[in-house]
Amino acid sequence: MNHTPPTRFGVIGTGRITRRLIADLQSTDGAEVTAIASRTAERARWYADQHGIAAAVEGYASLLDRDDVDAVYIALPPSMHAEWTLAAANAKKHVLCEKPLSISPAESNEMDRACQFNSVRWLDATGWLHHERTEAFSKWFEEQRLGKIGHISASVSFYQPFQTGDHRLDPVLGGGCLLDLGWYSVGLIRLVTGQLPTAVFADQIIRQGVSQRVTAMMWFDDGITATVSCGYDTATRKWFEVAGDQSSLVCDDFTRPWTDRPARCWIHDAAGTVEPFSFAGDQERRMIGKLISDEPLEELQKQALDTQRILAAMEASIEASEKVVLET
Ligand SMILES: NC(=O)c1ccc[n+]([C@@H]2O[C@H](COP(=O)([O-])OP(=O)(O)OC[C@H]3O[C@@H](n4cnc5c(N)ncnc54)[C@H](OP(=O)(O)O)[C@@H]3O)[C@@H](O)[C@H]2O)c1
Repeated sequence: MNHTPPTRFGVIGTGRITRRLIADLQSTDGAEVTAIASRTAERARWYADQHGIAAAVEGYASLLDRDDVDAVYIALPPSMHAEWTLAAANAKKHVLCEKPLSISPAESNEMDRACQFNSVRWLDATGWLHHERTEAFSKWFEEQRLGKIGHISASVSFYQPFQTGDHRLDPVLGGGCLLDLGWYSVGLIRLVTGQLPTAVFADQIIRQGVSQRVTAMMWFDDGITATVSCGYDTATRKWFEVAGDQSSLVCDDFTRPWTDRPARCWIHDAAGTVEPFSFAGDQERRMIGKLISDEPLEELQKQALDTQRILAAMEASIEASEKVVLET
């Protein structure tokens, strides 16, 4: 992407996450926010005024018609990600789409194809993948710092008595913890293994019509196994353990560092010695920086498309109440 700087972003949606990402977009070198769209003109104006954005736009399609928008940030409920990514790609806008990328592999693959066809760049807004610490994880795995990896476990949850109308409680909008939080834990497992599992078994607890707790097990070709836990009914967890035959990597804040603390993790060896690590960094600004650069994005896009496939296999396993074998 080689615009005369800055890349001008239009924001689609005015929900909870939008506020944080607007601040990140506005403070990333080479990016600015020129417009924000909402379903209603009043809400778009209110949000634009709050955040110092020049144009308040009624309706998402009108934002895509604008000449002062080069890229969009899509912050809508999951079931709307595909529709608006396709529309943005066809309008030749680059796309930063909130996680989960979509609600199915078919949708995600179509989004990828549409962006490729229109020569626009895309990324899912999964910030932790872009943290300096995540680069250290990848280097450690490549160097076999832990020895041979045998097992991975990842747990992501938060306790949330949702308000009526929250999209997370609406199956039609892609609600439920499987896609919402499974995106993180499954993404971590995909990052560590770099591959799809051969088989998956998953189970869920449903309340209010959506998954509120999901537990899963996965098997990989080279003998690695993984377990996943996510849910809306336990206190905040955002941690993982990667167990090698020499030592284990433990991290308790991988999706986002705890407030006012540096990102951290520990390597525990067989004798009980613990080596602590901490990292400064700004995951969202690095993510935005990659989207607006010329850096290749294929690896990150494959990470997202594979994550979506694994989540679909978990869904299939839940429906069938049995272990599901993935086709390669
Ligand atoms: N990356 C992260 O750390 C992170 C954190 C939280 C959430 N997320 C993701 O970001 C996305 C949005 O989450 P959020 O918590 O910001 O959602 P939210 O507060 O419910 O906001 C979603 C926005 O989508 C628009 N919308 C259009 N049709 C809607 C409908 N039928 N129902 C509800 N909203 C509708 C609304 O904007 P208008 O009324 O202005 O049109 C609304 O403000 C989700 O995919 C979520 O998983 C990411």
